[in-house]
Amino acid sequence: MPSQRPRVLLILSGGIAAYKCLEVIRRLRQSGIDTRCVMTRAAEQFVTPLSLQALSEGKVYTDLFSLTDESEMGHIQLSRDADLLVVVPASADILARMAAGMANDLATTVLLATNKPVMVVPAMNVRMWENPATQDNMKTLERRGISVLGPVEGEMACNEFGFGRMVEPDEIVDAIKAGINTESDSKQSVLNLSLKGKRILVTSGPTVEPIDPVRFIANRSSGRQGHAIATALQQAGAEVLLVSGPVNIPDPDGVETIKVESAVDMLNACQKQLPVDASICAAAVADWRVASRGTDKIKKQDGTTPTLELTENPDILATLSQPGSDRPSLVVGFAAETENTVAHATAKRSRKGCDWILANDVSEGTGTFGGDKNRIHFITDGDVEDWPEMSKSDVAQELTRRIATHFDLATS
Ligand code: C5P
Repeated sequence: MPSQRPRVLLILSGGIAAYKCLEVIRRLRQSGIDTRCVMTRAAEQFVTPLSLQALSEGKVYTDLFSLTDESEMGHIQLSRDADLLVVVPASADILARMAAGMANDLATTVLLATNKPVMVVPAMNVRMWENPATQDNMKTLERRGISVLGPVEGEMACNEFGFGRMVEPDEIVDAIKAGINTESDSKQSVLNLSLKGKRILVTSGPTVEPIDPVRFIANRSSGRQGHAIATALQQAGAEVLLVSGPVNIPDPDGVETIKVESAVDMLNACQKQLPVDASICAAAVADWRVASRGTDKIKKQDGTTPTLELTENPDILATLSQPGSDRPSLVVGFAAETENTVAHATAKRSRKGCDWILANDVSEGTGTFGGDKNRIHFITDGDVEDWPEMSKSDVAQELTRRIATHFDLATS
């Protein structure tokens, strides 16, 4: 009988951090997760197949052209027979080969042949990590939906300091568990979900609040998270209406995109789309606008500094959340916080009356604004789930799965 326990395929590439995989395997086993291992030739210089085999209690695969390996389990089956593939440590070399789609050893062949989610855990010297070649490769991999864990800043085996250090085994195990749960909750890509017939409103980007005809108040939102959500929902079959402030990214394919500037415009555009089945408010709406916007450019005058009087903007999320016949059956907001993220976001959920809040920490150094990554606390009525750090596209896909489940439950 096939094992019902979750299974991870660990792919070890060459790097001094490979020894930490022994601890990862030990903890995965303690958590009831089976592991199989594939090693590159370079990985074998750092840990022996024998020690991996002893800990994982399973065969360790190293050779693409081994007849014995292939007769036991072909490389295609190996690539599919796991819930999650984790490249750990992921060297600059294997990341480059993955980005290029190469299949010149067992590890890269398995990675190219898999239809399962893949996570990479980079570990390398800081200069290698910061090299534009590696950074471009990472962007390519993330764009293809591969999730990336780390690296972190710290001292490295080569005595240099900076980004490149592999995250610790504890964190790797947590991310693997979360990755497996996410997959087994729904096992499918958003392409297989059905939100057909659902009309979903998404807000995205910043709002821009004019001071006079040439100046404005804005914020750092890139619109990437909101646009990724619109894309994922559209791929899952929903009719998506995206209301977006000014952004420098393309409109998502196949999504009706309504462009607005100010918060007041955004609210009007949203209200025109009602009724909708769900509303996802990912826009970074300005809290205030200038109370009396001049029609002429404010002139600089010697010795005087103008004072801007501000007035509060309408809260779109709170407005859409108000009970009434037009209230979407699901209203979702975001909370970008710089401290006490979960506590503030939980309070915000009640105050605004929405159903779910995706909270993230945007304090300096997290790189959330404008970056590709997000670490979400998913807050619902009475529950908080900590999602591992994911690309914004993965957050969008995960949220889409939750939305699909919400509608499935509502109709069952
Ligand atoms: O209050 P705060 O701006 O932190 O709330 C964030 C959430 O509220 C986001 O979902 C954002 O889109 C929404 N929001 C809104 N209208 C505002 C302010 C925030 O829809 N005026």
